[in-house]
Amino acid sequence: MSEIIKGKCEVTLQLKKLVEMVAKSNSTVLLRGETGCGKDVVARAIHESSKRNGELINVNCAAIPSELLESELFGHEKGAFTGADSKREGRFEASNNGTLFLDEIGDMPMALQAKLLRAIETRKIQRVGGRKEIDLNLRLICATHQDIEKKIDEGHFRADLFFRINVFPIEIPSLAERKDDIPILVNHILDDLKYNGSIIPQIDNTGIKALQEYVWPGNVRELKNVIERAVIIFPDKKINGKNIKENLLKINLPDISQEKEELWTMTSDLSPIQIEASSHSDSMPHPNHYKKWFDFLDKIDLRRHLSDVEFNLIEGALKKSNGSVTEASKCLKINRTTLIEKMKKYSIPKLGND
Ligand SMILES: Nc1ncnc2c1ncn2[C@@H]1O[C@H](COP(=O)(O)OP(=O)(O)O)[C@@H](O)[C@H]1O
Ligand SMILES: [Mg+2]
Repeated sequence: MSEIIKGKCEVTLQLKKLVEMVAKSNSTVLLRGETGCGKDVVARAIHESSKRNGELINVNCAAIPSELLESELFGHEKGAFTGADSKREGRFEASNNGTLFLDEIGDMPMALQAKLLRAIETRKIQRVGGRKEIDLNLRLICATHQDIEKKIDEGHFRADLFFRINVFPIEIPSLAERKDDIPILVNHILDDLKYNGSIIPQIDNTGIKALQEYVWPGNVRELKNVIERAVIIFPDKKINGKNIKENLLKINLPDISQEKEELWTMTSDLSPIQIEASSHSDSMPHPNHYKKWFDFLDKIDLRRHLSDVEFNLIEGALKKSNGSVTEASKCLKINRTTLIEKMKKYSIPKLGND
C-alpha cells in the first residue's frame, strides 16, 4: 500500500485501497476534496504506484494566466504568436508515458475546455500554431476543491468535459474526518522537520488531544503550519494542550457540535458570582462572563447561541416538570402560551396533557 499517504484510520485505509486499485489502470481520476486535504499527495501516490516510466507533471490551472495556459499545456511552434521565438513543448508532451496532473481543473477557462476535451478523447494534441498531430500515452489525473456540478449549472464548465474526467472520482476525506490520523501525521511532520535540521519539541497527550479537538478548516496543510510554528516557538520543549490552544491555534469554531461543546466547557468553568439583581441564581453563569469569550473566539453566532441556550433551557424545564407545559412555563417565568409558541418554533413535542 502507498507509503506516501500517511495515516491508518478507516477512511484513510479506504483511500489507499482506491489508490492501489486505480493506479494499475489507465483510467482518468478526478480527485475532489477541500483545500489542504492531500490532493497533490494522492496524485503522487497514484503515479508512483502506477509504475509508469514517465514523469508526473503538475499543472495548476488556477495559477497560470489564462492567455498563457494554452501554450503551457499544448506547447507552441516557433512564431505562433508574438514572443514565441522558438518552438516549445507543452505539459501534455512532457507527461508522455507518465502522468499529467491538472490541478484546480474547475478554473480551466471555458475557451480552453473544448481543446482539452479533444486532447483527452483522442490522446493527440497539436501545438499552438502547429498542424502536426502528436500522439501521447499518458494517464490523466484532475483535481478540484470546487463544486463542479454548480459550475456546469452556471455555464462555467462544460458538462461533456466533466463526464470525460469523472471516470474514477475519489473523494479525499477532510482532516476533521480522520482525526485519529493526527498523531501519525504530527510525527511524520516532526520527522521531516528534524531531518531538515530543526530541533523539535515534544507534544504531550493533552497537546495531541487539543489538536484533535480543533476543526482544521485548512486540513493537513494547516496542521503542518501549526507544527512548524510549534518548532519555532518551542524548540526542544514539551508542548501541552494549553500551549497548543493559546499560542498555536487561534480557536475558531465553524462546527456546530464543537461550538456547543466549547460553550458548555466554558460555562462550566465559570465560577458562580453573587450579584445584586435577583434575576440570576448563584449557580448561573453571570452574563458579564460572555464578554470574555472574545478572548478565545474570533466570531460568535449570537442568534444561534441564544436559540441554543433557549432550546436547552426549555427542554430542561420540561424534563424537570415531567412534560407539564404549565409547570415548565412557571420554571421559566414565561406565559404558558409563549412557551407553547417557542416549543413549536423548536419542534419540541408536547408530551403532557396540560
Ligand atoms: N495523507 C497525508 N500524508 C502525508 N502528508 C499529507 C497527507 N495529506 C496531506 N499531506 C500534506 O499536507 C500538505 C497539503 O497537502 P496537498 O496534497 O498539497 O493538499 P491539496 O492539494 O489538497 O491542497 C502537504 O504538505 C502534504 O504533504
Ligand atoms: Mg493542491
